[in-house]
Amino acid sequence: MELLPLWLCLGVHFLAVEWRNPSRMVMAASQGDCKLLDGVADCRGQNLVSVPSNLPPSSQMLLLDANPLKTLWNHSLQHYPLLESLSLHSCHLEHIGSGAFQEQARLRSLALPDNSLSESYKETAAALCRLRGLRRLDLSGNALTEDMVALMLQNLSSLESVSLARNTIMRLDDSVFEGLGHLRELDLQRNYIFEIEGGAFDSLPELRHLNLAYNNLPCIVDFGLTQLRSLNVSYNSLEWFLAAGGEASFELETLDLSHNQLLFFPLLPQCSKLRTLLLRDNHMGFYRDLYNSSSPQEMVAQFLLVDGNVTNITTVSLWEEFASSDLSELRFLDMSQNQFQYLPDGFLKKMPALSYLNLNQNCLVTLHIREHEPPGALAELDLSQNQLSAVHVAPGLRSGLRSLRSFNLSSNQLLGVPAGLFADASNLTTIDMSHNQISVCPRPAGVDPGDTPSCVDFRSLASLRRLSLEGCGLRALQDCSFQGTALTHLDLSGNWGVLNGSLAPLRVLAPTLQVLSLRNVGLSSSSTTELDFSEFGNLRVLDLSGNALTTFPRFRGSLSLQTLDLRRNLLTALPQRAVSEQLSGSLRTIYLSQNPYDCCGVEGWEALQRLHTVADLAMVTCNLSSKVLRLTELPRGVPLDCKWERVDMGLLYLVLILPSCLTLLVACTVIFLTFRKPLLQVIKSRCHWSSIY
Ligand SMILES: *[C@@H]1O[C@H](CO)[C@@H](O)[C@H](O)[C@H]1NC(C)=O
Ligand SMILES: *[C@@H]1O[C@H](CO)[C@@H](O)[C@H](O)[C@H]1NC(C)=O
Ligand SMILES: *[C@@H]1O[C@H](CO)[C@@H](O)[C@H](O)[C@H]1NC(C)=O
Ligand SMILES: *[C@@H]1O[C@H](CO)[C@@H](O)[C@H](O)[C@H]1NC(C)=O
Ligand SMILES: *[C@@H]1O[C@H](CO)[C@@H](O)[C@H](O)[C@H]1NC(C)=O
Ligand SMILES: *[C@@H]1O[C@H](CO)[C@@H](O)[C@H](O)[C@H]1NC(C)=O
Ligand SMILES: *[C@@H]1O[C@H](CO)[C@@H](O)[C@H](O)[C@H]1NC(C)=O
Ligand SMILES: *[C@@H]1O[C@H](CO)[C@@H](O)[C@H](O)[C@H]1NC(C)=O
Ligand SMILES: *[C@@H]1O[C@H](CO)[C@@H](O)[C@H](O)[C@H]1NC(C)=O
Ligand SMILES: *[C@@H]1O[C@H](CO)[C@@H](O)[C@H](O)[C@H]1NC(C)=O
Repeated sequence: MELLPLWLCLGVHFLAVEWRNPSRMVMAASQGDCKLLDGVADCRGQNLVSVPSNLPPSSQMLLLDANPLKTLWNHSLQHYPLLESLSLHSCHLEHIGSGAFQEQARLRSLALPDNSLSESYKETAAALCRLRGLRRLDLSGNALTEDMVALMLQNLSSLESVSLARNTIMRLDDSVFEGLGHLRELDLQRNYIFEIEGGAFDSLPELRHLNLAYNNLPCIVDFGLTQLRSLNVSYNSLEWFLAAGGEASFELETLDLSHNQLLFFPLLPQCSKLRTLLLRDNHMGFYRDLYNSSSPQEMVAQFLLVDGNVTNITTVSLWEEFASSDLSELRFLDMSQNQFQYLPDGFLKKMPALSYLNLNQNCLVTLHIREHEPPGALAELDLSQNQLSAVHVAPGLRSGLRSLRSFNLSSNQLLGVPAGLFADASNLTTIDMSHNQISVCPRPAGVDPGDTPSCVDFRSLASLRRLSLEGCGLRALQDCSFQGTALTHLDLSGNWGVLNGSLAPLRVLAPTLQVLSLRNVGLSSSSTTELDFSEFGNLRVLDLSGNALTTFPRFRGSLSLQTLDLRRNLLTALPQRAVSEQLSGSLRTIYLSQNPYDCCGVEGWEALQRLHTVADLAMVTCNLSSKVLRLTELPRGVPLDCKWERVDMGLLYLVLILPSCLTLLVACTVIFLTFRKPLLQVIKSRCHWSSIY
């Protein structure tokens, strides 16, 4: 209420200003609130219907995005002759007057994405034609066809970068990009291109980056753009990729053919600088081993290349597969989500520089590690989600995985790995062997060695930091299973009984462990055997969900813990304030839901909530005389029912009995006093006591 006078006062003041100076408001609306800074005029989203004319004439960059201009009139930019960059993103532009850019001789960059320039493209083309120094042009999202594009780009020979993404181009022929002799970058993503005529890019000798992603190209044969550095043909329907034969030297460094329908490994240039090859999500396999001597020796594919009235036939031997491709500079190879059942001998040997290989989601059955296969430079190998049942290491081979840093074998059918596999992998920091039925060395005494074929030995892998053994069906670990490692991340989830009720096997990791996952491992605790993580001084994240904990684990001294997950346990009470305060320094997030809390044991949850973020507070329920209540819906303070339970039963009885006793006593006294004499007499007479008085 005290604010009211001030509020009214302010209101009157504003009214007065508005009333006194109405013209200022009008001006602000027409001009918009353009921000001016260092020659940049930023007028984005100001609801302008025309180009403001009162900006500094020295402006070099003008941003007019998201204003409903509809038309860019002749001379509307005449006040800004020094403009170098103009952005008109989403301005509902349908018309650009043919003289609109007449004064913009210095314009280098023009962005016109997401307008409707197909409406009067001829006039627009005439306007663009004056921009003799234009370097960058963005025409994406304008519903342009190839004929419109050809006209609009005509004579813009200074262009270096053009985006035509999200238009309705269907075919490319040699007229579309004629005369763009300086073009280096061309973006044709998300059109409907199904055909590219030979020679369509012939007039682009400087072209370096070509993006044809999200089109409908069925194949690329006779690929001969030797000048190109990167080609992106992902998300098309390619069944073939075939580079022009011959000795021509390609500059290609990055080739993205992912998300297509390739059946065969692409037939790459014989001489190239390819460093990155992306083949994810195709239908590729190697086939030679699957059709042996019984089938015809030579399987060939013949390509008819038709160019006008000339037809050339190219014959390709399908079993040569990768043989003629130059892969000597390849660093990054992604072959995930294909149908590779094996890798032919010598395949990886052709890539001595390879450092990243992804074979996730294929059908590989065995892995052979030989000299130079995988190549010595390999740092990351992903073999997850295959059907690997065996890894073979060539006898006597040392230095197989010398540079390897990350090895993913998750979700295969491995029962073990050869004894010395990790022996000289001195850079290995990450191993993921989750979802394989392995056992870890040493085996517990008394387990028949014939029972499981082999065990995997992680002892003394000094470089190892991250190890995932989730869902491996591990049996109880021995105390020395991780001796000699300095693991920071360990996942043992889903191995029921792996810790056999004690943290002893993890003790050697106590100084280093930062992230520990012990989900669904059958841990239990009671007041006698409390889980004690006090030694784990660096532990940041601890997942104990899905166990049978009845008491809160101990963390005395463990001051780094940030995230703690206790969902799906058997906790009946929230951690006592004392416990919770021990952690208050670092613990940020705690998960507590799906425990059978007793509503009488959750006193102080609000205090807990103040100390830490209970991430799933809305889902925490408790049990009040067999009713289930949400914690957040509990009445303030402890429910009434609990107060009675708390009171000492002895005291309760005393309180109940005391009034009755008192009443009885008073009654007795009254009776006694009233009938003292007769009563005595009665007693006397009844008992025939010998009188003493
Ligand atoms: C714009 O200018 C061109 C010549 O530069 C002229 O032909 C055209 O008629 C003008 N348009 C308008 C609407 O004035
Ligand atoms: C492009 O230039 C050629 C000659 O250099 C000329 O004949 C043609 O009219 C020009 N096209 C446009 C749209 O100005
Ligand atoms: C190819 O284009 C797609 C779609 O824009 C993009 O997601 C992908 O990252 C590009 N590939 C490369 C190698 O840049
Ligand atoms: C390959 O040939 C051998 C005999 O030459 C035969 O036993 C085997 O089944 C053949 N494999 C396939 C995949 O055809
Ligand atoms: C056909 O072959 C000839 C000679 O090898 C070559 O000059 C010509 O460019 C080829 N044409 C096509 C369409 O590949
Ligand atoms: C191809 O057709 C053109 C006319 O369309 C003709 O001049 C030329 O000689 C023909 N070339 C061949 C090899 O038939
Ligand atoms: C191990 O990694 C380090 C740093 O990443 C690197 O310098 C070294 O060359 C690697 N060792 C081998 C054998 O590749
Ligand atoms: C290993 O691969 C699986 C499946 O592709 C993936 O979920 C997991 O995150 C990978 N592990 C590592 C350590 O990258
Ligand atoms: C599990 O622990 C119990 C004692 O707590 C011990 O008797 C038993 O041998 C252990 N089992 C294994 C497999 O280590
Ligand atoms: C609630 O607690 C009672 C005993 O206190 C128990 O019998 C019942 O199963 C519990 N209900 C739930 C849903 O936990």
